[in-house]
Amino acid sequence: MLRRIPVSQLRAGMHVHELCGSWLDHPFWRTRFLIRDARDIARLVEGGVQEVWIDASKGLDGEAPPSGTRALVESPDESVPRRVDPPASRTFDAPGPDRVPMAVELERASRICHKAREAVVSMFAEARMGRAIDASGALDLVEEIDESIARNPVALVSIARLKTADDYTFMHSVAVCGLMISLGRQLGLDVAQVREAGLAGLLHDLGKAGVPTELLNKPGRLDAAEFAVMKRHPQLGHEMLLQAGTTGEIALDVCLHHHERMDGTGYPHRLDGPAISLYARMGAVCDVYDAITSNRPYKAGWNPAESIRRMAGWAKGQFDERVFHAFVKSVGIYPVGSLVRMSSGRLGVVIEQNEDALTTPKIKLFFSTRSDTRIQPEVIDLSRKGETDRIAGREDPARWDFRDLDSIWAGDSAPSPQPKPA
Ligand SMILES: [Fe+2]
Ligand SMILES: [Fe+2]
Repeated sequence: MLRRIPVSQLRAGMHVHELCGSWLDHPFWRTRFLIRDARDIARLVEGGVQEVWIDASKGLDGEAPPSGTRALVESPDESVPRRVDPPASRTFDAPGPDRVPMAVELERASRICHKAREAVVSMFAEARMGRAIDASGALDLVEEIDESIARNPVALVSIARLKTADDYTFMHSVAVCGLMISLGRQLGLDVAQVREAGLAGLLHDLGKAGVPTELLNKPGRLDAAEFAVMKRHPQLGHEMLLQAGTTGEIALDVCLHHHERMDGTGYPHRLDGPAISLYARMGAVCDVYDAITSNRPYKAGWNPAESIRRMAGWAKGQFDERVFHAFVKSVGIYPVGSLVRMSSGRLGVVIEQNEDALTTPKIKLFFSTRSDTRIQPEVIDLSRKGETDRIAGREDPARWDFRDLDSIWAGDSAPSPQPKPA
């Protein structure tokens, strides 16, 4: 019943079963749909889709177009919208009266992150001394973080990604808290559930307070024995939270199960898909994203856009795909801070997401690969009518020596440039 055809053969009435190529390369989120008219086909063409699978049991077949039906994509007289919009839900919430631009929220988000980091530091210190931790104050923080994300969905999560290698454990907790809240909002959870998810993110690695600091900050990969010690942290954290007796079920669950994987390869219990809760699946995605995009004692963080691309490859086995797709909607295909190469040969950093389409963010251009020099920074909005430059691909920051990459988008909110790890 399934047939692969070029987009040029699509006609109204056909049922698209799957778009060929990586879903990250085009802005379509609902891949199964009925072609209603020429506009649907034009969106596919503009989105760079070249071939699709059609399902003849749910719509017209492509072999013999019904008489009178033209190949609509070739119709010159159809009115075609210029920009490609996701056909399903909007990428971000519709801007509300309290929505503020990235540049405005960054400074406030940075202060909230600093405060949250201090709270995590003292929780870890209490836990290391064997005292029952008091997580009651953490709820106020989670509320503040949630409010920041409501004002601007990416400012806080972008700033929380920036961390120095030795600060990783603390800021990672704050970052996962923000990512869980953002993802929970994208999944349509209610306010109480979103905040429970945020609290779970803040507390998920508390068990690392029971792991020797030398191991946490070891400037190199862990050997098998060291990794076995590290792998005890979910159970240690779970015990600490049980002891404190004040934490809800969701935080307990995420703390114990954020390293479980859908294909059963995770730890500590090697649970498989159906046995892993939604919140633990969310925790797994947020945890991995922040871990690979952050500077660690033994490696610099990966480009956020490259991290999303690699996670998409892992998603089939390890992550809940629905959760992962919602995650990408919440941070973007090219998250803020991503280094990209443009079709013009210029390099730029993503500074803001576009509320309607994941592939047309705002970019600050600062380098010409043609002249191999810095250029006067210029902000372009890829969703603007008439803008001809396009993202040609993700660029590996490790190939360049841009030590001020973060301050290009975060300004004074970025930590001072760090020497690169050897
Ligand atoms: Fe962990
Ligand atoms: Fe973690």
